[in-house]
Amino acid sequence: MFRIGVLASGRGSNFQSLIDSIDSGAIKAEVACLITDNPDAYATERAKRHNIPHVYMNPASKDMYYNAIADELTRRGVELVALAGFMRVVKKPLIAAFPMRIMNIHPALLPSFKGLHAQRQALDYGVKIAGCTVHFVDEGVDTGPIILQEAVPVLSGDTEETLSARILECEHRIYPRAIKLFIEGKLKITGNKVIVEQ
Ligand code: GRF
Repeated sequence: MFRIGVLASGRGSNFQSLIDSIDSGAIKAEVACLITDNPDAYATERAKRHNIPHVYMNPASKDMYYNAIADELTRRGVELVALAGFMRVVKKPLIAAFPMRIMNIHPALLPSFKGLHAQRQALDYGVKIAGCTVHFVDEGVDTGPIILQEAVPVLSGDTEETLSARILECEHRIYPRAIKLFIEGKLKITGNKVIVEQ
């Protein structure tokens, strides 16, 4: 069975959408482990509920942190790493251990609005279309090759909360879809472009 490792810092609703896609049979894989950088991450409760191995790894280990995460994932036979609300910039040792095998979901239409509070950045800028992006992770912040995107309208009267909720619905659709495409070998990377084979 294809083995996925998930890294999360908080709520874990994208982690849950992956679990649900696996449980429904849409994705033929298993979550080999959840790693959190936060002992109170609600994502851990979700892992417990679904009997998924979970480990809290203390980021205080600083320089060696990403080596330790890479070792843990490798030890568990992980083939794809899914960042699901992991609130850190992943560093070289982990990227080198899983080149083009780490995905992230970002709540904006990249390359616009990278970094934190992407939905608020979109509202402040005044764009009329927002959305989300699944991309491979490289050493930049939200810069890796784009796999899938989905757009939503920005409505007059939107707040950060209402826009975030609309975008989150799309996140829960496209992240499992991107992971499924990866597992099925349908993503071909050339340079900074990802070709999705049908
Ligand atoms: C999502 O908005 C995701 O796009 C961003 O962090 C948030 C995580 O939410 N990277 P959740 O923990 O998956 O509910």
